[in-house]
Amino acid sequence: MTHPAMKETREVLVLIGSPREKGKSARLGTAVTKRLREHGLKVTFFELSKYPVAACTGCGACNVSGQCCIMGDSWGVLSKHMESCDAFLLVAPVYFAGPTGWLKAALDRCQMYWSRKYLLKEGVPSKRPAHLAVIGEGGDPFGTAPLETICTSALNCANLRITPERTHRFIGVDIEETRVDELTRAVLASVANGEDA
Ligand SMILES: Cc1cc2nc3c(=O)[nH]c(=O)nc-3n(C[C@H](O)[C@H](O)[C@H](O)COP(=O)(O)O)c2cc1C
Repeated sequence: MTHPAMKETREVLVLIGSPREKGKSARLGTAVTKRLREHGLKVTFFELSKYPVAACTGCGACNVSGQCCIMGDSWGVLSKHMESCDAFLLVAPVYFAGPTGWLKAALDRCQMYWSRKYLLKEGVPSKRPAHLAVIGEGGDPFGTAPLETICTSALNCANLRITPERTHRFIGVDIEETRVDELTRAVLASVANGEDA
């Protein structure tokens, strides 16, 4: 396996957690992806609406194998990109203060990384920076903290680390060029700086 520092082209994974192919999340993710590619990065643009992931059944098989036993969906491809990327951007719509069902299903499949990290103590990917873009209409009194905590908790098992500084809220606003540029710059900085051990 190539050490991340030896890679010629840095990789970013952009994951879209909306079931809508033409929603705000897809628009923001597409715009950031275009800009990152213009900077020479290899970007994988992964939409759960096109490649859905089945929900974890809590069978416990990964406690022994470190692998997910559900076959035949897109988790195999998505998890490989989650392991190989140098930085990660999750664009997540807020549904009743939490994630969409589509995204929650994918996040729960990180249980295999939890098993590797905390039970098996092997096969854990290296620590990398992760950004979370929160998309919402606003007006809901319960905020976005549950969504942010769920995403941070699940991705931390894969050593993809969301921090408060890497959490970007787009609530009740249009996806404007300036915000797209800001988010792009933040991801570029993460690619350049990596993540502290
Ligand atoms: C079931 C459901 C629940 C939602 N709950 C919230 C919410 O709690 N807070 C909020 O700001 N927006 C909420 N929204 C609005 C969506 O976050 C908003 O439409 C967003 O643009 C959806 O992302 P997308 O355009 O990428 O599909 C909700 C929408 C749906 C369909």
